[in-house]
Amino acid sequence: MDHINKTEVIEFVLLGLTERAELRGLLIAVFLVMYLINMLGNGTMMSVISGNSQLHTPMYLFLCNLSFVDLCFTSVTVPKMLSNLIFDHKTISYSACIAQLYFFVSFAGAECVLLSVMAYDRYVAICNPLHYFTIMNKKVCLSMSAACLIICFLNSLLHTLLVCRLSFCNSNLVEHFFCDFTPLLKLSCTDTSINELVLFTEASLIAVLPFLIILFSYFRIITSILKIQSTGGRHKTFSTCSSHLTVVILFYGTLIFMYFRPSSSYSLEKDKIASVVYNVVSPMANPFIYSLRNRDVKMALKTALQRKLSLGTRG
Ligand SMILES: *[C@@H]1O[C@H](CO)[C@@H](O)[C@H](O)[C@H]1NC(C)=O
Repeated sequence: MDHINKTEVIEFVLLGLTERAELRGLLIAVFLVMYLINMLGNGTMMSVISGNSQLHTPMYLFLCNLSFVDLCFTSVTVPKMLSNLIFDHKTISYSACIAQLYFFVSFAGAECVLLSVMAYDRYVAICNPLHYFTIMNKKVCLSMSAACLIICFLNSLLHTLLVCRLSFCNSNLVEHFFCDFTPLLKLSCTDTSINELVLFTEASLIAVLPFLIILFSYFRIITSILKIQSTGGRHKTFSTCSSHLTVVILFYGTLIFMYFRPSSSYSLEKDKIASVVYNVVSPMANPFIYSLRNRDVKMALKTALQRKLSLGTRG
């Protein structure tokens, strides 16, 4: 009858990135700056793409979607972390923690699926250029974007409901800067084998399947690029994928580092650093990777800035 004197936790304590108090000011500054750059970069990307009809092709619309997901993804964890640091107040209520878990898992999944949709888009553009606009028509793109969000929100609902059935009775100290699965499962005093099983199978579907699609797309892209005779032609064709490939490597690289390694090498510190990379650094870097390496985006940005400046001097 052990469930009788169980006291359920009503709030968790997020222990944060480090317990060293002298680093608090530095962490606040670094994360505040990174968050602002993130908002500015992704916000600019979204407004440049939606404000420029020349960029209304599938590739850029998906890029706009990616910026949107990135913006939401970081906003799930960083503002709460910053406020905990600034006010030196580490608690998060049970329901806020569950909500954070839900949105974190949703947007992380959306990022994976969207990256694979973008790889598929490049595959069609390069390997099937004549039918590109018939295959990737408006309806198809819209359904892909919608499906991506719906699948990820449903998937996350399943995980979150499974976490809701757990009870937490020993401790409420979360060894992380946000409510993530592993630290929560570790805290629970219920048997978590079902959670782990579902996590494993579902994570394979949401992260590994898109990864295979990306690999397949790039395999086909590279084989078709190798068939191009001129080096200039090869370079030009590949340049449309290089930004996407960089983003994929950054995001999946940390994900693979985090979840696909022997559990003997498991370390909380490394885990926290990897989560900072895919939570904060990678969403912040995406708009720069795209805008610095892409001529069309640079041109659109220049035009938008010039328009702003000329309006400024006239007004
Ligand atoms: C997402 O992409 C679709 C097309 O694929 C586009 O119609 C829509 O405006 C985009 N939404 C955002 C918020 O980027």
